[in-house]
Amino acid sequence: MLIRHRPDLTDNDVTDRGLYLRRREFITGVAGLGLAGLGGAAGAAPLAFSKGFSTTEKPTPKDDVTSYNNFYEFGVDKGDPAENAGKLKTRPWTVRVDGACEAPKTFDIDALIKGNKLEERIYRLRCVEGWSMVIPWVGFPLKDLIAAVKPTSKAKFVAFETLMRPSEMTGQRWDVLQWPYREGLRIDEAVHPLTLIAVGLYGETLPNQNGAPLRLVVPWKYGFKSIKSITRISLTDRQPPTAWNLSAPREYGFYSNVNPAVDHPRWSQATERRIGEFRRRDTLAFNGYGEWVADMYRGMDLKKFY
Ligand code: MTE
Repeated sequence: MLIRHRPDLTDNDVTDRGLYLRRREFITGVAGLGLAGLGGAAGAAPLAFSKGFSTTEKPTPKDDVTSYNNFYEFGVDKGDPAENAGKLKTRPWTVRVDGACEAPKTFDIDALIKGNKLEERIYRLRCVEGWSMVIPWVGFPLKDLIAAVKPTSKAKFVAFETLMRPSEMTGQRWDVLQWPYREGLRIDEAVHPLTLIAVGLYGETLPNQNGAPLRLVVPWKYGFKSIKSITRISLTDRQPPTAWNLSAPREYGFYSNVNPAVDHPRWSQATERRIGEFRRRDTLAFNGYGEWVADMYRGMDLKKFY
């Protein structure tokens, strides 16, 4: 495992960029006017957003965030997604939101980006493999998208699916996982204000290797819950099947809340390596977001519901 170290980026760099983009948004007077460059498929374009809830920890250098990835649709090694995901065509792109709701709808990605108020959220990401990063995402709360389709009382869970396109996602030609990649959340988790649909990072459109054009970010859960390149979101009354749980049910549960007290069958989850750091650090319960999310799991045995 070879990781490049770039100690040159500070909080200020990120803040300044955020302020710059926000100021531009203010000057134009129209949120989302900075998005004209988003029509094309490839290439990072600046995004207009406002600052929302964030950690003050130092973000992981962009080079690491965009070159050390898990995205099995493009290969199983950390460098494969950056090398192979350029093939993915992210326009046109639609997301179908359906199931237990009154107003199912197919959303065009550019309409979604223009129609939602984008925020920057600097979140910790803890992978189940034992490494972590701090990533400045740009996106909007998933709850806004769910509200738009008017969920019914039968909406107890939310199921997510990644695009299935083996011609571009060459990893899908191999049975590493049961494709398409699938994930799920309980409805209260899905509408929690921390749960984000990300369309960018570091103030620019999401690079393909990070899940363009839109991916989920659930910061208190292991990274594999944060499904990339989503094409379908379905509200359902049943706990949906999920890719890693189907593949190795004893190793990867449905909940997968970051929990230093519950080890993976093959390794400890007590500590983690922050990419760019040498010494391992302690892993925090719920990845440090317990203050906001622990209540949702009150009374649940988190060893059983891992
Ligand atoms: N989504 C899809 N569709 N395919 C994947 O292989 N990997 C997951 C998650 N989302 C994955 C995925 C895992 S294991 C992690 S840790 C995060 O994406 C990594 O996100 P990043 O590469 O943007 O850091």
